[in-house]
Amino acid sequence: MPKIITITSGKGGVGKSSLCTGLSRAFVSLGEKVLLIELDVGLRGIDVMLGLTDRVVYDLGDVLAGRCYPEKAILPGEGGRPDYLAAPGTTGEDVSSAALQQLVTRLSKRYDHVLIDTPAGLGFGVMNLLPVTDLALIVATPDPVSIRAGSKVAYLLQQQDFHRYGLLINRVSKAGIRKSSIRDLDDVMDGVGAPLKGVIIEETAYRLALEQGLPPDEKGAAWQALCCIARRLNGERVPLSIRHI
Ligand SMILES: Nc1ncnc2c1ncn2[C@@H]1O[C@H](COP(=O)(O)OP(=O)(O)O)[C@@H](O)[C@H]1O
Ligand SMILES: [Mg+2]
Repeated sequence: MPKIITITSGKGGVGKSSLCTGLSRAFVSLGEKVLLIELDVGLRGIDVMLGLTDRVVYDLGDVLAGRCYPEKAILPGEGGRPDYLAAPGTTGEDVSSAALQQLVTRLSKRYDHVLIDTPAGLGFGVMNLLPVTDLALIVATPDPVSIRAGSKVAYLLQQQDFHRYGLLINRVSKAGIRKSSIRDLDDVMDGVGAPLKGVIIEETAYRLALEQGLPPDEKGAAWQALCCIARRLNGERVPLSIRHI
């Protein structure tokens, strides 16, 4: 069972932070102790998605610089939220890989799952964390640019001889697939070249909940999909259902 899970993508705006937030909540709903670490230095956003705007006092940069203990910086989960270690709000903080890897390893001993939201692109983030990553989830949306960017990430992971990665296809809508040049989800899987771990539909209610920092609607298709993904990652045999699209 993967414990330390990094969420990545080549292209920005595909829903990494949203999925990291939703999937963390899904693991919590299964009764697990979960830590969400945000690595998007200078572009903090998960505080908003978790309903913790203006609550962050210390962040990952403070912990790595030794300005405070992790316990002081981690906002404790309550009301279905995971514990949360925020990204530095400004750029210029040193989040170098060796120190970060040590911190993640140390913290992971206290949790069932650690989910790490990485910045988009091929630079800092997922690549620096490979030695401690149990599973890298590549997020792509069903459009050609996102698929090409996702395939690039998969290629770079393979080059590092890292093969524990999977694909999440986000923002799927039946109409969108019909209109776009991507015929179906198989094309996305083939295009990225990663085993499919889950499909999340485009859902306005889910987006609005994230914008307001509220938990997703438990009856909504996006939440149902996130719970299925969490259980699948835990080794349960949950069929890949896309009946809701
Ligand atoms: N399944 C979804 N349905 C509707 N809106 C979504 C979905 N996933 C993400 N979004 C929206 O897409 C935008 C970008 O998501 P975000 O998680 O910030 O992307 P990233 O972290 O990859 O840059 C946000 O406004 C978010 O609410
Ligand atoms: Mg993000």
